[in-house]
Amino acid sequence: MASRSLPPVGSEDDASVAGTGLAASESEYIGALADAGERMVDRLRRKAFLPESRKGLSVRLGIAEVAGLLGCSTNRIRMAEEDGRLPPPPAAENGRRVGYDIPAILNMREVLGASPRRAEGDAPAIMAVQNFKGGVGKSTVTTHLAHYLAVQGYRVLVVDCDSQATTTTLFGFNPHFNIKREETLYPYLSIDPTQADLLYAVQPTPWPNVDLIPSNLELFDVEYELAAAGADGQSVLATRFRKLKQGLVDLAQRYDVVILDPPPALGTISLAVMQAANALLVPLAATTPDFCSTVQFLSMMDQVIAQLEQAGIAVDYSFCRLLCSKLDKNDPSQSMMMTIMEQTFGSSLLPVPILESAEISHAALRMMTVFELERPIGTARTHRRCKTNLNEAMGQVEQLIRRHWGRANVDGARLSEALAQ
Ligand SMILES: Nc1ncnc2c1ncn2[C@@H]1O[C@H](COP(=O)(O)OP(=O)(O)O)[C@@H](O)[C@H]1O
Ligand SMILES: [Mg+2]
Repeated sequence: MASRSLPPVGSEDDASVAGTGLAASESEYIGALADAGERMVDRLRRKAFLPESRKGLSVRLGIAEVAGLLGCSTNRIRMAEEDGRLPPPPAAENGRRVGYDIPAILNMREVLGASPRRAEGDAPAIMAVQNFKGGVGKSTVTTHLAHYLAVQGYRVLVVDCDSQATTTTLFGFNPHFNIKREETLYPYLSIDPTQADLLYAVQPTPWPNVDLIPSNLELFDVEYELAAAGADGQSVLATRFRKLKQGLVDLAQRYDVVILDPPPALGTISLAVMQAANALLVPLAATTPDFCSTVQFLSMMDQVIAQLEQAGIAVDYSFCRLLCSKLDKNDPSQSMMMTIMEQTFGSSLLPVPILESAEISHAALRMMTVFELERPIGTARTHRRCKTNLNEAMGQVEQLIRRHWGRANVDGARLSEALAQ
């Protein structure tokens, strides 16, 4: 790509194309802005990733934290390490134990019978994290929920259905350079589909138990194509809806939870996601614009669901909840908005909000979630507070999923019981 240049800051030349002396309209700089942005994204990626530009997963947890996760005593883990059921504990560095990595913890769950997976007959959760407004935290909630569930031992598939591809980026891909249209949902949803099932699109991630169907800008072509289909559009649309649902239901058999991150607008893909899901999570920050847009979103959902049902396309959710995705408790206007949200939505609003935290935005800058951080970015206290809050907020969603499997409240005590048997 030829690198276009921006005018020097504050130059007299602001309105001329560098080197030509020709007057330029501001619009001619857009390409240069895009180039400069791409170069910076690449620099950020190189800083965040392994040398071979592959994202790694280096988070490690101490034995006490692992025991807490598994709902057993540290003694039980040590015994299994001693009698050879588990590999020996990770070696110490500089006299300090380095902790267990995610594959080791997953292995421990298998060996000690502490897997929270759904039973064979339980339907996998296919959950849309949806709202028609951008910036409400859809991708942040999607990725944090995926990694939270992965730490808990579930098998997770994340489907990035948004051509803006923030979720894909947070999983370590550069949607522009690493992802081809053929690797997104496009070949499956296109008006001339070249794929009959969704297996082709599944990519591994640095997490052993999380897969991703990535996205890029070209996924948007699905919207164009169906709009251009004119009168035939309606029937094509209905066929696409059924197709996405069937494809996801088939693929979901390999997972416990499928999380869908749809685009922030009412389009073909959003509609398809809406009816393909069997659960709905609506994130919104505690601000007036988010509240107002969410109310509009809900009323639009209501109308669309009625229309879909009239057309014989059933929409059925095992749960439908709102989740405050960003709350600054020190901001009185946000606390007031939180109260308004509680009054308006009652028990449909999950009781534990995600607190606004620099740890989340700093992790995003490194293209990571807080669950991937090897060490705190801010102070240890900020990190701990953020992770505790995320565990609680995501734990509420986990419980809703488990309730659908008839297995609510898998807390430490229940697991210990299972372990003792
Ligand atoms: N709890 C939070 N604390 C701090 N920053 C947050 C939090 N939730 C979201 N953000 C930031 O808000 C911005 C928008 O979030 P994002 O998940 O991309 O929204 P959406 O997917 O709905 O467009 C991102 O920069 C993200 O890092
Ligand atoms: Mg997003």
